[in-house]
Amino acid sequence: TIETGLDGWLRYAPHPAETSNSYRAISNIIVLNKSKTSPVYTAGKEVQDGLRRILGQKIEISGELSGTPSSSVIIGTVEAFSSTCGKIPEIPELKEDGFWLNTHAENDCVHILGENERGAIYGAFEYLMRLAQGNLNHVKSASNPSAPIRWVNQWDNLDGSIERGYAGPSIFFRNGEVVTDMTRVAQFARLLSSIRLNAVVVNNVNANPKLFSKTNLDGLRRIADTMRPWGVRIGISLYFDSPKKFGGLPTSDPLDPAVNDWWKDITAKVYEKVPDLVGYTIKANSEGQPGPLSYNRTLADGANMFARALKPYGDGVVMYRAFVYNHHLDESVWTNDRANAAVDYFKELDDQFEDNVIVQIKWGPIDFQVREPPSPLLANLRKTKGAIEFQVAQEYLGQQSHYVYMAPLWREILDYDMRIDDKPSVIRDIVSGERLNWSRSGYTAVLNIGSDSTWIGHHLSMSNLYAYGRLAWNPLASSVSIIQDWARLTFGLNETIIDTITKISMESWPTYEKYSGNLGIQTLCDIIYTHYGPSPGSQDGNGWGQWTRANAHSIGMDRTVATGSGNAGQYPPEIAAIYENIETTPDDLLLWFHHVPYTHRLKSGKTVIQHFYDEHYEGAAHAQTFPIEWAKLEGLIDDHRFKQTAFKLQYQAGHALVWRDSVNNFYFGKSKIPDGKNRVGNHIWR
Ligand code: GCU
Repeated sequence: TIETGLDGWLRYAPHPAETSNSYRAISNIIVLNKSKTSPVYTAGKEVQDGLRRILGQKIEISGELSGTPSSSVIIGTVEAFSSTCGKIPEIPELKEDGFWLNTHAENDCVHILGENERGAIYGAFEYLMRLAQGNLNHVKSASNPSAPIRWVNQWDNLDGSIERGYAGPSIFFRNGEVVTDMTRVAQFARLLSSIRLNAVVVNNVNANPKLFSKTNLDGLRRIADTMRPWGVRIGISLYFDSPKKFGGLPTSDPLDPAVNDWWKDITAKVYEKVPDLVGYTIKANSEGQPGPLSYNRTLADGANMFARALKPYGDGVVMYRAFVYNHHLDESVWTNDRANAAVDYFKELDDQFEDNVIVQIKWGPIDFQVREPPSPLLANLRKTKGAIEFQVAQEYLGQQSHYVYMAPLWREILDYDMRIDDKPSVIRDIVSGERLNWSRSGYTAVLNIGSDSTWIGHHLSMSNLYAYGRLAWNPLASSVSIIQDWARLTFGLNETIIDTITKISMESWPTYEKYSGNLGIQTLCDIIYTHYGPSPGSQDGNGWGQWTRANAHSIGMDRTVATGSGNAGQYPPEIAAIYENIETTPDDLLLWFHHVPYTHRLKSGKTVIQHFYDEHYEGAAHAQTFPIEWAKLEGLIDDHRFKQTAFKLQYQAGHALVWRDSVNNFYFGKSKIPDGKNRVGNHIWR
């Protein structure tokens, strides 16, 4: 049973005999690169394993293209195939990592041909995942990624803990060093590869310079060697002050030649161990981290220092995080606003970054809240390339003790039209590089899997990792079809399983929003430390800037240009006009952009305060249906996963009631406005 968790959606459950018998017999698997460390060879092994598990066929990896293959699965790059057999004219030009899959090619062969070796393994997984879902249809098509950068970020610390990790200790580090047993690392790479994610940054963005110790550099080599056969590359997060704290230099000033030499030297050492390092992630001048501003240099000076160090080694990039803000902001100043920080810092630097710098932008202006508008920085860079940062770890979304399926949230952001220069500028087209002609851009996501047997802390939450990979490849994939595919692959083909999981998943985000924070007020959790559980009072009165400005009469952040922080004005004019005006601001972002009395009437006709009360009751009531729905799956799936998930959903249902009462009582206490339906605070006031 533990196995099923570790396999995630790659269970390859056996088909019933009648289905397997209807599938033609495969004679052999031909791999066009026989090196055991190549993704093509790994793909061959995976297809061998998959066909055995799904269809009961036992097939050898054998044979050569130069014979006359028949009923063979042929796996390799397009180039390797063409050099022996000539070009296949019907294969279109593929992008980096793209692939061609033809299940009914000449002589009954299956062709799985990648633009590169990574593409070949992606094609192999596509072939298997179709079979695993009982989809035996012929396929003859090319598939290409929307963007070249499709990464995940792990926030793993060297001591083995994981920042905002909810699934046990790190699979990479323990006691200050890289672990010796790479079993989980390989299993992790397999999952990432199957959803076409091509890189993982292995250590916390709040980085530790001891990563550069000799033992750890060797450790990084072992991690990279383990992941490479799956087509997954690694990157690392850097601590900006490493020259000073680790290298013994008097400064880490990015314009100091000795500091630059130090980073060049370290980079050479890293590349000696990991020749295909994918790059560096930098969190600087954020939440107490040092950075270029600490030395009176610009953020571009800092980023470019790393960019120049990487240049000699191929295609490595600097992912420079836009999450730069002052966390000691003074709330007594009405116009202060953390949401302004990214544009304030980065817009004016737009033409100053080296071409291998990519600015990594959290999807919203604050911090992965249950609802935010998209980050205005996504519409303010032109020359500097950007990547969007999502968060698969449910930090503010219940930390894997609640289940929130995030594909619908991500789709809303990716589908959002920013109207740059009054032209269509949908975020997925900005991120893909198409809209602004960026040569390299894309996606990353904070993931935080751990050594727990569920990987992520909740079986259902693995759907978020799967969905993230699917959307980074094709941002037009539908949230419903993604969850259905995932449910089939993870739990089985029975309709009740698929319908139940789809229903719970699709209702999970709106439900969580209802009981955790409405109208764009953010997730009303504890802000100071845990980011978990209801604590609406903790939002204000501190420097973190996740404020609600709730008082006895009114609530919300005035982000208008006219009377507030001016944040609405950071969006392109058409969007700015919508948010500047309270009439055109959608209700679900009302309190994000406007400060209004509790008695303000929404477009629904309800007052803000009554809406709060009602939504919290509705959301909490709806959460009660999740364990009831789930109970339908008893006996249809294995007991272990059934019970573990049932427990989590039951807990969520209970905690939703706590959320409801905490938030409603808090605002009742502040506003003293009774609930029109006589539920809230009855025991206190009447
Ligand atoms: C959040 C999170 C921190 C993290 C930070 C980041 O604020 O709570 O733990 O370090 O984001 O993204 O850097």
